[in-house]
Amino acid sequence: MKVAVTGKGGVGKTTFSAILARLYAEEGNSVLAADVDPDANLGLALGFTEEELDEITPISKMKDFVNDRTGASAGNKFLKLNPKVDDIPEMFAKDRNGVKLLVMGTVDVAGAGCVCPEHVILKRLISHLMLNSDDVVIMDMEAGLEHLGRGTAESMEQFVVVIEPGARSVQTYKNVKRLATQLGINRVRVVANKVRNEEDEEYIKSKIPEEDLLGFIHYNTDVIDADRQGKSPYDFSETAISEVRAIKERLEK
Ligand SMILES: Nc1ncnc2c1ncn2[C@@H]1O[C@H](COP(=O)(O)OP(=O)(O)OP(=O)(O)O)[C@@H](O)[C@H]1O
Ligand SMILES: [Mg+2]
Repeated sequence: MKVAVTGKGGVGKTTFSAILARLYAEEGNSVLAADVDPDANLGLALGFTEEELDEITPISKMKDFVNDRTGASAGNKFLKLNPKVDDIPEMFAKDRNGVKLLVMGTVDVAGAGCVCPEHVILKRLISHLMLNSDDVVIMDMEAGLEHLGRGTAESMEQFVVVIEPGARSVQTYKNVKRLATQLGINRVRVVANKVRNEEDEEYIKSKIPEEDLLGFIHYNTDVIDADRQGKSPYDFSETAISEVRAIKERLEK
């Protein structure tokens, strides 16, 4: 199972990714959760402490390592386009509650078509995780669609777009679907989060084709409390866990 979780800012990508990762771990799977957001906070949602996370450097910020692997240097602009990456999870991922966290960071690109060393490494690493790794891989992507335009997404087999019951995040789903289809990713499905009532459910059902809708996670104050305390929602809310479990079952179909 390989999933890339995307969607608008603040919709619940990290919350969903963390609960899903921990469910897979609880079943005894080897799980790798990749934080592919420059504003990384998947670690907290998995149960790491802030102090532990402060000690982690995102892969894209390990300049010497990245330069070494890609052959980049001040005098050399020709990069190895297939750098070695298969040992990166083992070297840098940290384990908590049975989930290996890999903080990847993202690439700040000034303009399209940048072939910077960090980009080469991340793109290669993502395709390694998606195509060659034996782990269950869950990627918590950065908000928005920039990653779809940057060429890091081609190797992903499916996207889960997290939305809220509102027109703007439904729009994001449509945009992700369009861009993903252009990249040859045919499975783009939806998790509707922060759903308050039946009206919200009806709204979602009226906007999302049934075959694309994986399920609902209801608005849940335990999830908010977990976040406030910097803890994993998995350790706070049985309801959210059982909702994500149902989503996971549909995801596997
Ligand atoms: N079902 C829910 N009920 C209530 N609050 C929720 C729910 N899911 C997530 N939240 C809250 O919404 C906020 C954003 O959640 P989260 O960080 O998971 O979103 P995100 O999409 O990863 O955000 P970002 O775009 O910043 O990465 C958090 O405060 C979280 O606790
Ligand atoms: Mg997030």
